[in-house]
Amino acid sequence: MALHWLIAAAVLGQIGLGLVMTRMTPGTMEQWGAYQLHKSIGVTILLASVMRLVWRLMNPVPPQPAGLGPWEGRVARAAHWGFYALLIGMPLTGWLLVSASPWNIPTVLFDTVPWPHLPLDKAAATEDAFKQVHRALGWLFAAMIALHVGAALRHHWLLKDDVLRRMLPVGGERAE
Ligand code: HEM
Ligand code: HEM
Repeated sequence: MALHWLIAAAVLGQIGLGLVMTRMTPGTMEQWGAYQLHKSIGVTILLASVMRLVWRLMNPVPPQPAGLGPWEGRVARAAHWGFYALLIGMPLTGWLLVSASPWNIPTVLFDTVPWPHLPLDKAAATEDAFKQVHRALGWLFAAMIALHVGAALRHHWLLKDDVLRRMLPVGGERAE
């Protein structure tokens, strides 16, 4: 749960920052700083998501609420696995694109920890290809978040079950 909310906040910030920084005046120190911050948060999301996935695979999940149609449970499960794929695929394509960039700008996490680049041939065409994928995944991510939040609110307000409440740090009933 803690990882869910930390990662959720980071991902929302990251999409906003990605959109803003790519529209800043090129070559300024501000833009440089924004890119470094984007890369730092992105790599942190990658590490946190791998931890979360390991946790998820090693621990049982609460049962789905009763009364869902057969397709509803399946769609929810597929969407959640889709999120794990995005949580790893999104930073990975970012990492790949900076690694393929002929600019070869170093990545220094939070101005402190140097982060290595992947051993790729530097080529603008490869960088561009990963950039396109990174961008497309960003929009897919945003659309899935909208559906996910819609689904959570539907459970809370329309179906009146405890799916949202049990995901909150207080107020839910948890079988432990
Ligand atoms: C969950 C993590 C991440 C999310 C949600 C995310 C999201 C985004 C978004 C929405 C954009 C703007 C795309 C556009 O409109 O041009 C962007 C651009 C970018 N991202 Fe990420 N990103 C993530 C992780 C990373 C990581 C880990 C790196 C590098 C280590 C990275 C490097 C970049 C770069 C260099 C750009 C600019 C690409 C361009 O010039 O068009 N991102 N990202
Ligand atoms: C913004 C990025 C977000 C991501 C990437 C994300 C991802 C996920 C994932 C992967 C799960 C499934 C957990 C599992 O079964 O392994 C989940 C569950 C859940 N999320 Fe999110 N989430 C985000 C934001 C939100 C927000 C803003 C809300 C609230 C409005 C929310 C509410 C929930 C709830 C209630 C569950 C529990 C579903 C259940 O018990 O089956 N999430 N989320």
